[in-house]
Amino acid sequence: MPATDWKRTIAVIGAGTMGVGIAQLAASHGHIVLLHDVAPDAACKAKAGLSQRLDSRVERGKMTADDAKALLDRIRPVADLADLAEAGLVIEAIVEDLTVKQKVFAELEKIVATDAILATNTSSISVTSIARVLAAPGRMVGMHFFNPAPVMKLVEVVSGRATAPEVAQTVFDLAGNWGKVAVHAQSTPGFIVNRVARPFYAEALRLFEEKVATPVMLDALMTEGGGFRMGPFALMDLIGNDVNYAVSQSVFEAFYHDPRFRPSLAQMELVNAGHLGRKSGRGFYDYAKGAPPPVAQTLPADPALVQPAPIDPGQPCVIEGTHIIQSDGRLAREIARDRGAPVMVLDLLNSDGPAQRLGFAISPDVPQDVVARVTATLQGQGTACTPLPDWPGLVVMRTVAMLANEGFEAVLQGVASESDVDTAMRFGVNYPNGPIEWAREIGLGRVLAVLDNLHSLTGDPRYRASLGLRMAAME
Ligand code: NAI
Repeated sequence: MPATDWKRTIAVIGAGTMGVGIAQLAASHGHIVLLHDVAPDAACKAKAGLSQRLDSRVERGKMTADDAKALLDRIRPVADLADLAEAGLVIEAIVEDLTVKQKVFAELEKIVATDAILATNTSSISVTSIARVLAAPGRMVGMHFFNPAPVMKLVEVVSGRATAPEVAQTVFDLAGNWGKVAVHAQSTPGFIVNRVARPFYAEALRLFEEKVATPVMLDALMTEGGGFRMGPFALMDLIGNDVNYAVSQSVFEAFYHDPRFRPSLAQMELVNAGHLGRKSGRGFYDYAKGAPPPVAQTLPADPALVQPAPIDPGQPCVIEGTHIIQSDGRLAREIARDRGAPVMVLDLLNSDGPAQRLGFAISPDVPQDVVARVTATLQGQGTACTPLPDWPGLVVMRTVAMLANEGFEAVLQGVASESDVDTAMRFGVNYPNGPIEWAREIGLGRVLAVLDNLHSLTGDPRYRASLGLRMAAME
């Protein structure tokens, strides 16, 4: 078979949510896109749906009618796999099933040119396993887009054991030409994003299970204090608790039940109850019409109690004998005993973020008057205060420490570089900072202390620190 110009013709297999988005993206960059789906008419219907969405973009002045027409003309629904012969790159976005994917690629290999690149958009299946059925597995690579593919910036370029480095580099460069931010990852469960993001949900769920705070309180601390775009509970309700729980479960299974990835019984109960989130009208929140919007409580503050000097939550200070320090994972009562003084522990505040809300815990001997003075001063600086029970690592600090820990572990295992882990989390799930760079900013010693203290207080091996983090903290 002749060598193909893959720069011109691309094939997309599977015309569902992801396939049509990828087809739109490729066509918008001038490629001819052959779109194939096993269901008769699915590709034509997907193209008709896209046409409607583009019409609405034209109406809103976001795109010209000529551009929309040209883009659609480049997308060509085809009925048979054999019609994909001229494609130089095939991106598969069919059902998430190893056997079905292997069957499609084994057939496809006989149809396309020998230098055609075969890519899979799988989100959870090993690229190595899919490639195993190929005569030339070196040309198979993962090209993991995020939903919606035309909008979300990140593409994880996933190499299986056999993937040729130049094949991975070719699709990496192509993703860049399509305006995406690409990262390299080795084929391991969850790749980068779906693995490193687990603690974002898991820590929130654990705090919820332990009744530390309500979903609305925890979400408010993560968004207004941590600077995350969405809180974990609002996000789980948006993704769907069934989908989010299934991803957690699949990562947990894939890591041989490593406790770091243990799914949450509380979330399972929501799924059992059919409280799937927005799509079912109820999840952690109630989406019924007329349901009162959840409100995060703020401690009332008396302006008369504002202290003359501002308080920097990242710097320790002493106010009327009470030690005010940022969390290192210990309980306030433990630190108070060690220091022989009352202690107020502050949660992590993202200094680049809005810094509008800060959680805190106190040892039992802190005078109420001091709490009133500190919270009045912080609220005078624009930071609302949320009292929390005396709990290890509080909310934002423990979550960020666990995200960073997973990032360091992925780097240690050669899944990706430090900077690709950070990039993936910033562009794949819109985190305000990459977890590793964030940990470096907090101080690796403190992050390690948070994990070690959580580990020793809970006795739960999920909090064991990554050797990668421990060694980096010694540098
Ligand atoms: P979908 O269910 O919307 O679409 C799948 C399409 O593939 C359907 O139209 C189906 O008829 C077709 N199909 C099934 N078997 C086929 C075969 N043998 N040959 C040709 N077409 C076939 O699924 P979705 O959500 O688009 O996911 C597709 C792939 O992308 C999966 O591997 C999924 O894990 C992955 N993915 C999904 C994301 C998402 O948010 N939905 C994000 C990133 C990856």
